[in-house]
Amino acid sequence: EKGNYRHYMQKEIFEQPIVVAQTLQSYVRPFEGEVALPTGDLDLATVGRVTIVACGTSFYAGMVAKYWIEQFARVPVDIDVASEFRYRQPVLEPGGLALFISQSGETADTLAALRHARSEQQRIAVVVNVPTSSMAREADLLLPTHAGPEIGVASTKAFTCQLAVLAALSANLARAKGRLSRDEEQEIVAHLQEAPAALNAALGHDDDIAAMAHLIAPARDVLYLGRGPDYPLALEGALKLKEISYIHAEGYAAGEMKHGPIALIDEAVPVIVLAPSGPLFEKTVSNMQEVRARGGKIVLISDAKGLEEAGEGCIATIEMPEVHPLIAPLVYAVPVQLLAYHVAVAKGTDVDQPRNLAKSVTVE
Ligand code: F6R
Repeated sequence: EKGNYRHYMQKEIFEQPIVVAQTLQSYVRPFEGEVALPTGDLDLATVGRVTIVACGTSFYAGMVAKYWIEQFARVPVDIDVASEFRYRQPVLEPGGLALFISQSGETADTLAALRHARSEQQRIAVVVNVPTSSMAREADLLLPTHAGPEIGVASTKAFTCQLAVLAALSANLARAKGRLSRDEEQEIVAHLQEAPAALNAALGHDDDIAAMAHLIAPARDVLYLGRGPDYPLALEGALKLKEISYIHAEGYAAGEMKHGPIALIDEAVPVIVLAPSGPLFEKTVSNMQEVRARGGKIVLISDAKGLEEAGEGCIATIEMPEVHPLIAPLVYAVPVQLLAYHVAVAKGTDVDQPRNLAKSVTVE
């Protein structure tokens, strides 16, 4: 079943161009230049607040969605990990939209949070990969990802498919709120349609990433930095590395470095910087220079333009295709997944079955 791949995780990373394309098919009409949700008797025009709840990698997809929904639809978004949400007595006004994101659709905390939100008169939207799951059954608005079965314990292709669905949902909500012109919608659709090819181009750098894994494998601690919608990708990169290579890693918003974590920097702590060119590039690079000035060893992940401007002096660089900022979070998922994968392989850990972890966390 793994075909030519050594691990399920590797196979699933490489499936991303296809499964993202497959997922997008249900959410965009390329010829009309429109986003369209597969089902939906929810009237999104009346949504005044969105509450996003999830765990782990699915939570990071939700964090990206917060940036998108607020930017495009101008609807305020609250976001919580499910284990906090369900016990903190959140204030939920009747008629709000509660959005749950889960690969398995069975995560105990997320399911309990969903039931709590329902009891508080929220309308329930679910982004889920297993169509027969409990969460899928309990949704008012079911937004399936079409990633296919995900077997590796570390989530990869489910995450990029979640992002594809969430981008389409954000645009759909923006349209319903009268915040999206026809032209803007067409542009969003065009950018989303570019994602599969861009993911493919990112995967083309697999060998470069494999070749630099030895720079990270000996580290005890690794930091990941990103800004804006790529900040959650820094968190995701750190989670992937922790999970499968057992190296301690943390993701930070690049601008937070100087508020504490920069004290950790020395030549033994590699810093992975996610900085696609775009409106936030210069800001992230200036945070990167602060790290370098303190002896930090940097791996810069950017496009050709970004690497040309800021790649000098890094211990390694990983080149990504130049993409619109909307799809950068999908594309930059690939190098952080591949880096974690190759570091884990270099360390000889059990990539598909990391210690202490279960694929579906059905107990709280
Ligand atoms: C990370 C990972 C976990 C899951 C989390 C939520 O690689 O796999 O963090 O993302 O347990 O699981 P789902 O999405 O099934 O609710």
